[in-house]
Amino acid sequence: MRGYLVAGNWKMNGSNAANRTLVQGIVAGAPAGESVQLLVCPPFPYLAAVSEMLGDSAVALGSQNISAHDSGAFTGETAGNMLRESGCQYAIVGHSERRALMGESSQNVADKFQAALKVGLKPILCVGETLEERESGQTDAVIDEQLNAVLDTAGVESFVDAVIAYEPVWAIGTGMTASPEQAQDVHRHIRAALEAQSESVAANIKILYGGSVKGDNAAGLFSKPDIDGGLIGGASLKSDDFLAIADAAASLESR
Ligand code: PGA
Repeated sequence: MRGYLVAGNWKMNGSNAANRTLVQGIVAGAPAGESVQLLVCPPFPYLAAVSEMLGDSAVALGSQNISAHDSGAFTGETAGNMLRESGCQYAIVGHSERRALMGESSQNVADKFQAALKVGLKPILCVGETLEERESGQTDAVIDEQLNAVLDTAGVESFVDAVIAYEPVWAIGTGMTASPEQAQDVHRHIRAALEAQSESVAANIKILYGGSVKGDNAAGLFSKPDIDGGLIGGASLKSDDFLAIADAAASLESR
């Protein structure tokens, strides 16, 4: 059973006070049962404190980035073992903001994916096309390039412990979400690409959708057969908004 994962990517938002309110709200209102896993990804300086706030709740903790290196002269970077020691179980790699604003290549992302696995963190590999790429019919080719860099570097079996997030760049933070059908098409394409190398990996991997997911569009997206939850930006910053998405997942039959 794949189950659902609803992950909050807080991006560069938060403060000690705001995080406490947010985490308390999420923990108190998390849907019962095991069909939906919740995850929060705060900025680096707050990881250890948020880990403590989460305590023994079922809500998981993840980072928004990870260094490809183990240790050494990499000023400003954070290694996987440090993230583990701060309480993380997941690490987002290749978010489109890092690809576009920090110049991360698909190979950099593949190296980060491997670095996460090496220390027992589950990488959440983000892939997605820009509006220009979609309009010129390149969506599948862009996804293939981003996915193949990781498949070639880490191998299909490494996806046993990974998550993929399809995040069309044009839908992130714009309020312009992909329709459930548009998202499902790409999710199917991604799962089929994995299927070509391993049927069991493809059947078990969670593929999240991200890009303007809200409480009122989540159920439509998550009810599609290849959409296993969401990577949530804006709507992850208020517990009520985030929980509305979690509840949408919980209301669907788990699969
Ligand atoms: P959004 O961000 O939900 O604010 O569109 C999603 C993301 O960037 O992960």
